[in-house]
Amino acid sequence: MSSDPVAVRKPETAVSKPVRLGILLSGRGSNFLAIAESIRSGKLKGAEIAVVTSNVADALGLANARELGLPTAVFESRGRKREDHDADVIASLRAHNVDLVCLAGYMRLLSPLFVAAFPQRILNIHPSLLPSFPGLESQKQALDYGVKFAGCTVHFVDENLDAGPIILQSAVPVLDSDDEHTLSERILKEEHRIYTQAVKIILEGNYKIAGRRVLHPA
Ligand code: GRF
Repeated sequence: MSSDPVAVRKPETAVSKPVRLGILLSGRGSNFLAIAESIRSGKLKGAEIAVVTSNVADALGLANARELGLPTAVFESRGRKREDHDADVIASLRAHNVDLVCLAGYMRLLSPLFVAAFPQRILNIHPSLLPSFPGLESQKQALDYGVKFAGCTVHFVDENLDAGPIILQSAVPVLDSDDEHTLSERILKEEHRIYTQAVKIILEGNYKIAGRRVLHPA
């Protein structure tokens, strides 16, 4: 079965408006900064960051967003029901007119409510070649398993952990000398590169979903 992309761009108006990204993060936010830099440098045209949202009040990524003068929002999740928390986040994303949600180190599984609120409009970056090594400490899982190539994946988000259709992947070699830190660094460089590329593909509507496959011209 194949389906056309859900439009992320709004219908063309006289002056076409940038697509508004909602970034969700829980930590240092280097992927967020890479996207912000791609927008600033013109590598990612036709997009703007509408809001940076976190479930962790003192996340470094939030502080960096504030420094860049971007709107931020915090919704602490501890002790709250997943649906209630997600409902608040969805309302905030809508209030900021977000078109496309980018998870960037957001350490929470999204509820079905959240996924349904932004159909085919939520992306995630994961530091492994999915479906290998989902979940936490993927780089350590790769080292412990003994694979010779590791990497990262940008995928659509569904209700399951690290499971939606894959948009882009990049592989890196695992060296004999690697530890978790050196391997993570090598993967992270690729994360920063392919997240921008994937967002560009989605913004431009330059893809088709066929079953689990996301097809796009090179
Ligand atoms: C990245 O490795 C990303 O793949 C994973 O969480 C980490 C976030 O890093 N989902 P950063 O906060 O973007 O620096």
